Amino acid sequence: MGVGGSARARRRSTHGWRVVGRSLKLSKKVAGVMKGYLPAPLLRGQVVVGCMFFRHRMKLLDKIGREFSGYNIFESGKRLVDRKPLQCSLYVTDRCNLDCAYCTEYDNSRPHPSLDDLKKWIRKIRELGTMRIALVGGEPLVHPNIVELVRYCRELGFATSLTTNGFLLTRKLLTELEDAGLQVMQISVDRMTPSAITKKSFKTILPKLDYFRDSKISLHITGVICADTLPESRAVLETGLSRGIPTEVRLVHADPLHRFRVDRGPREELERFIDSMIERKRRGEKIHTSEAILSYQRSLLRGEHVEWTCMAGYKLFFVSAQGKFWICSMVHTDKHIMDVTLDDLYGNYRKKSCQKGCGVYCAVSASLLVEKPAQVLGKEIVARAKRIPSMFRRSLTADTDKATHGAIANPDGTHEMNGSTEGGPSADEGVTLRENA
Ligand SMILES: C[S@@+](CC[C@H](N)C(=O)[O-])C[C@H]1O[C@@H](n2cnc3c(N)ncnc32)[C@H](O)[C@@H]1O
Ligand code: SF4
Ligand code: SF4
Repeated sequence: MGVGGSARARRRSTHGWRVVGRSLKLSKKVAGVMKGYLPAPLLRGQVVVGCMFFRHRMKLLDKIGREFSGYNIFESGKRLVDRKPLQCSLYVTDRCNLDCAYCTEYDNSRPHPSLDDLKKWIRKIRELGTMRIALVGGEPLVHPNIVELVRYCRELGFATSLTTNGFLLTRKLLTELEDAGLQVMQISVDRMTPSAITKKSFKTILPKLDYFRDSKISLHITGVICADTLPESRAVLETGLSRGIPTEVRLVHADPLHRFRVDRGPREELERFIDSMIERKRRGEKIHTSEAILSYQRSLLRGEHVEWTCMAGYKLFFVSAQGKFWICSMVHTDKHIMDVTLDDLYGNYRKKSCQKGCGVYCAVSASLLVEKPAQVLGKEIVARAKRIPSMFRRSLTADTDKATHGAIANPDGTHEMNGSTEGGPSADEGVTLRENA
């Protein structure tokens, strides 16, 4: 946890001096205007303190504003009442540089889709009225045109996020993605150290967190909980949260054939862990998911019934790396995205046979948001409001920690479009998959 601590302290103090320097400059200007009204040294001192105080308040207000900008209620609000889709997860490639044991969403035998094809599909997704796009895979960063794709999505007006294992992320690539307009990057981190099940660990990612210090891209961390990762899941959560990064760890899901590829872990321990996250969420900690989804996962563990209507294929949908329209990451169709109409989408507004035990949390999340916006948003707003007193306290003690600042942001409501292509129904549900649109 102390990794990079002294370097950070040095940078923080350098940053602090920069603020003092800037305030001194500003104070010179203000003092010039006030000259003759107060004794010079006194005037100068007061103006320096005043300017620094003003800067502090502005930064604090900015932080508070960012806390509440997450859902972009006005933009998303339209999609809560009309018939158009809110978000799409686009597989920009099936290829991946890793081989997580629980994952069924990569295939290195397939070539990357071409930039032209991807652009054509992206245009079509936008024409359908989709507001947010999550670039997923496979591993999106292995696609040679990923920066161009981000730029294109932004030019078309999408709120754009990217989900990555982070292994190929460099400072230069992050800057290029930022310049292209990427708003949210979700890095998947399952453990503190790599294992045979998953190599996605903080050992690789911790040194890269520093890249986000001055970046406009909002960083989120997401981890998968299974028997292998559970002993380190709390540490993953702590590591992210202690750095001010919105962090989430969530239960592993089954594959499209309803099989769990890895041991899920002991139920009681999982339940205790989820309970502790619900409590922390209520206290206002930056657990990067809604209380509704945490409670949903607890119900999954307990085998309790949850009343909801799956909006996958309607308010959110997936497009495969072959351009096929997928209802979600687990329910695929053979229909090409270029042939999909708004009526097709609306036809998927119905309860699904695979709902029981569904682990596609982004679909559950979007569905609950559309179904019960006041309830879901109300709790989130209360949770975020609880962070404000601690922001005030921090603003009085430290200048700003840029890493924290960057991580707080969630500028375009991409909270719900994290690209996580999470799972399907559990092995014993006996549901029909591969439905046609
Ligand atoms: C399929 S990956 C694609 C993006 C990128 N390769 C990555 O790992 O972040 C998207 C997300 O799905 C998660 N995921 C994959 N298989 C899963 C499973 N069986 N259960 C839960 N999450 C899973 C990954 O951990 C990752 O956060
Ligand atoms: S979870 Fe991501 S990194 Fe792991 S194998 Fe799947 S696509 Fe690759
Ligand atoms: S697996 Fe889940 S998200 Fe996908 S269609 Fe079924 S219920 Fe909806």
